[in-house]
Amino acid sequence: MTTIRSFTCDDLFRFNNVNLDPLTETYGLPFYMQYLAHWPEYFQIAESPSGEIMGYIMGKAEGSGELWHGHVTALTVAPEFRRLGLAAKLMSILEEISEKKRCYFVDLFVRVSNKVAVHMYNKLGYSVYRTVLEYYSGDVDEDAYDMRKALSRDVEKKSIVPLAHPVHPEELD
Ligand SMILES: CC(C)(COP(=O)(O)OP(=O)(O)OC[C@H]1O[C@@H](n2cnc3c(N)ncnc32)[C@H](O)[C@@H]1OP(=O)(O)O)[C@@H](O)C(=O)NCCC(=O)NCCS
Repeated sequence: MTTIRSFTCDDLFRFNNVNLDPLTETYGLPFYMQYLAHWPEYFQIAESPSGEIMGYIMGKAEGSGELWHGHVTALTVAPEFRRLGLAAKLMSILEEISEKKRCYFVDLFVRVSNKVAVHMYNKLGYSVYRTVLEYYSGDVDEDAYDMRKALSRDVEKKSIVPLAHPVHPEELD
């Protein structure tokens, strides 16, 4: 049976099987520690019965006024555990926490070329709010979709009305 539990510092030394994936970013240790210290409830991990890390989600709540929202910083599932509904489960946990915090919406950034993830987020009720030009740097810079899902507090769903034009990273609020 899969166990979903809070991420701990020790997991940072055991998550290579998940992070050795070209679409999964590996950050410096302080970055993870910051999330563990500030938003531990948003950092959840799925573990197999044999103790293998299957995937995890990392997020936070930020913004003020009607921009108060939950944010998905990382979501990843090891290749051998994909298509089991794990990502959908981890997203629903993050959304539940964001509801409890009275957030207006949940948002995330995803590479425009990451068709699997974009399709999944669409299926989970997310839509493209705006395109962020050259958000991801690399040999060739790549655009991101900023995708959003309105939560129950945003009764009129104002937060997800798409912007008419793409934005540059320095214009992000
Ligand atoms: C994207 C990712 C997190 C999906 O994880 P997952 O646990 O396999 O996803 P789920 O099993 O919860 O899938 C939920 C739905 O998403 C869609 N989906 C997921 N993977 C898919 C695939 N390979 N092809 C088509 N649809 C897919 C399906 O609609 C699926 O529902 P279904 O299985 O009932 O049809 C995983 O592929 C991954 O870790 N990719 C690399 C990292 C990444 O891209 N992260 C997102 C960056 S923002």
